[in-house]
Amino acid sequence: MTAIDTDRLNALVGKMLGDLGGAFSVPTTRIGFRLGLFDALHNHGPVSAADLAQHTGLAERYLREWLLAQAANGYITADASAMCFHLSPEQAMIFVARDSPVYLEGAFDLAAAMIEGEAKVEAGFRSGEGVQWGDSAGCLFCAVGAFFRPGYVNAIVPAWLPALGGMVPRLEAGARVADIGCGVGFSTLLMAQAFPNSHFTGYDFHGPSIEQANAHAAAHGLGERVRFEAVPAKAIATRDFDLVTMFDCLHDMGDPRGCAAHVHGLLKPDGAWMLVEPIAADSAADNLGNPVSRIYYNASTMICVPTSLAQEVGTALGAQAGEAQLTAILHDAGFSQVRRATEGPFNMVLEARH
Ligand SMILES: C[S@@+](CC[C@H](N)C(=O)[O-])C[C@H]1O[C@@H](n2cnc3c(N)ncnc32)[C@H](O)[C@@H]1O
Repeated sequence: MTAIDTDRLNALVGKMLGDLGGAFSVPTTRIGFRLGLFDALHNHGPVSAADLAQHTGLAERYLREWLLAQAANGYITADASAMCFHLSPEQAMIFVARDSPVYLEGAFDLAAAMIEGEAKVEAGFRSGEGVQWGDSAGCLFCAVGAFFRPGYVNAIVPAWLPALGGMVPRLEAGARVADIGCGVGFSTLLMAQAFPNSHFTGYDFHGPSIEQANAHAAAHGLGERVRFEAVPAKAIATRDFDLVTMFDCLHDMGDPRGCAAHVHGLLKPDGAWMLVEPIAADSAADNLGNPVSRIYYNASTMICVPTSLAQEVGTALGAQAGEAQLTAILHDAGFSQVRRATEGPFNMVLEARH
């Protein structure tokens, strides 16, 4: 047997302890979000378990253990000798501030949805078949929407659209926009709120997502300028869009090449396609070892690859396809100009034109 390097083993066990601590924190943290415990700590802290019980009407013994668990996680701050707890401003950005770029409730929901979908994806490993979007876990699609929303709030209008050549003045004047693979519609609504002279249609093949998107539009009073349609990307019939957007979804489609060719036909000759995809290096070797790729490869195994394999063609690009591969697909689809317009910590933003 190969000799064990004790230092390497200890380092790996230490890392596993940290990882498993994170995994064990998923249910307690989600309970905290759902029961408003982080909000209560933020609004009333520093508090004891008894104070928190008074503010929330929840059972003190559970709250005491939860407070210590979250303090052990480092998600809340403890004065342990006084058994008093509060949120630091940085902790509040992650657990309380819904529009902060690092608000993570959706990420915890997504972790839980991936665990819920485990059996169906495991069956896919045996059969080679896919798992339909929305079929693997009860509310995977809500969790995905919530996961991406904080990033979109802070990037789509302030950073990504301005990175496209001449698009903001066009949207201000009045443009027609298709947001394909829009899910529950947060991206569509953010753009519609920012550009009141433009018209937006969100498309997604998943009916329950479109129902939620319509409910969100109605709640924001945007029903006039925003509509949502349940249709696969390649079946969109309306044409002459100034802008097509796709947020974190081309790689989920069964036939990204066919979808790209279809988008080419949907745009006006001087229109642009803003393709937002997960940030990734071109070589898998360069992706290993960074925490963002780690998240994406795991999500890709549980969500993106099964979703694509469940559709026609089943290309299964995966969530770490990289710019070179995506650019080649866009060129093959007839786009002569493709460039990386900008990027963020989690996404690259490609601009494609005829
Ligand atoms: C990871 S989610 C992203 C959703 C949304 N754009 C967002 O960022 O929150 C991928 C989306 O692509 C949609 N999708 C996958 N394949 C599709 C297809 N062939 N046609 C239309 N929508 C598709 C799914 O229904 C899902 O809403």
